[in-house]
Amino acid sequence: FNYPLPVNEPVLNYAPGSAEKKRLKEVLAELKSTEIDVPMYIGNKEVRTNKKHAMRPPHEHKHVLGYFHEGEEKHVQQAIDAALAAKESWANMSWESRANIFLRAADLIATKYRPYMNGTTMLGQSKNVYQAEIDSACEIIDFLRFNVHFLSDIYRQQPISGPGMHNRMEYRPLEGFVLAVTPFNFTAIAGNLPTSAAMCGNVVVWKPANTEVYSAQMIMRVLKEAGLPDGVINLIYVDGPTVGKVCFNHKDFAGVHFTGSTGVFNNMWETIGKNMGMYRSYPRIVGETGGKDFVLAHKSADPDVVVTALLRGAFEYQGQKCSAASRAYIPSNIAEDVKKKLIAGVKSFKMGTVENFSNFVNAVIDEKSFDNIKRYIDNAKKDEKAEIWVGGKCDKKEGYFVQPTVIEAKNPKYVTMCEEIFGPVLTVYVYPANSFERTLELVDTTSPYALTGAVISQDRDAVELATAKLRNCAGNFYINDKPTGAVVGQQPFGGARVSGTNDKAGSILNLYRWLSARTIKETF
Ligand code: ALA
Repeated sequence: FNYPLPVNEPVLNYAPGSAEKKRLKEVLAELKSTEIDVPMYIGNKEVRTNKKHAMRPPHEHKHVLGYFHEGEEKHVQQAIDAALAAKESWANMSWESRANIFLRAADLIATKYRPYMNGTTMLGQSKNVYQAEIDSACEIIDFLRFNVHFLSDIYRQQPISGPGMHNRMEYRPLEGFVLAVTPFNFTAIAGNLPTSAAMCGNVVVWKPANTEVYSAQMIMRVLKEAGLPDGVINLIYVDGPTVGKVCFNHKDFAGVHFTGSTGVFNNMWETIGKNMGMYRSYPRIVGETGGKDFVLAHKSADPDVVVTALLRGAFEYQGQKCSAASRAYIPSNIAEDVKKKLIAGVKSFKMGTVENFSNFVNAVIDEKSFDNIKRYIDNAKKDEKAEIWVGGKCDKKEGYFVQPTVIEAKNPKYVTMCEEIFGPVLTVYVYPANSFERTLELVDTTSPYALTGAVISQDRDAVELATAKLRNCAGNFYINDKPTGAVVGQQPFGGARVSGTNDKAGSILNLYRWLSARTIKETF
């Protein structure tokens, strides 16, 4: 079964008067006027509890989109049982049939559910229409189609045989179940973590962030409609520590596919390490965690390229991409120009609800995040080691709105140059234009993360130097571009150091982690 390399799903532009804009507007109105009731999906059951949790748009937190049913310890156990019950028939299903379920899901999103995927992402996670389209439509479709292609490539890879013997590799799923723990910031990541493992023949317990259940349940409904058998992916809404306690104490725990914070991922490793004696096999621990992503401009950089990279890299989706630019190193020769244009750019942004498509900036995800971001900004306002260039206003009366903010740090190790904030806050450090090499060292030593980064330069030697010296500072390194917006099949995504295990989402490398190969030699 050879599935050729797909093309990326085209991005629709939602121009005024377009059919897609009209349809999306209708769906947004429908979603706003219907309070949905969201069960957990465990085996063949839709599970409801008496603990209901309201889902609200972050930009309009008095509005209720619906309720999901929160589970407890016994539901985690039930999800594991349902997964294990489905395991044998799923693993034995022909690869072609398994693949067709995910290809059908991709087609269903492309042709039928696109406005619902985008609508739930826009309202539930406060993403503007363009950010939703590249995530909950295009990227999730691409993950499904490209992963089928990559997996067909893996299955074809076979060892050599010789006279009197035949060798083959059997790419088995892992023995046990896989836990997928998914973040709020990308609906596509939420879809990819359980489906990439399931596609390889694994059964999955899927725990999304509370703040993304509204779109996660859409993915689950699409997968069901595409023919995913009951129990292959079980979607539960249970708090993280309880999920961890049950899953990491289970002999059939086979692996975890995680995107979230470094702290939570570290706790997972520790717990799994302590429980090591109880598992059948060494669990696969795959995670993408935090970042403190940089943009480094060289004195030869075109200031307009720097400003565009910063405005888009730092402020799209309110800086809540793990890849978002959050520290910038600007040489003194272009600093004034960059400052002027950056301030003008930020002032031109419109901020507000997602339903007005001209708003570039929407709300941050929840109150906890709002308070945390505001604390960094308030501290910077008081600190003589920092100067606010633009932004700094925060208002949570109607929604969790944080004005995009640029801070100039007088000290390159100032707190907002070092710590992950996960919001629309960019910190700039202006360095003497002739100390590029020392600045390379600063980029390397300022943060323990290594997710994304960019160098902006018109000087090829400087590009070469940065590419070499910053080799370990970013899993995704961009030259003359913003450090965000990796596309499946084009820029496999993931970082090292404390940014994760660098098992590149949207590439063949990730899929290998969900397979356990058996080598079979037959002599005749
Ligand atoms: N894949 C996402 C990006 O590159 C995280 O922005």
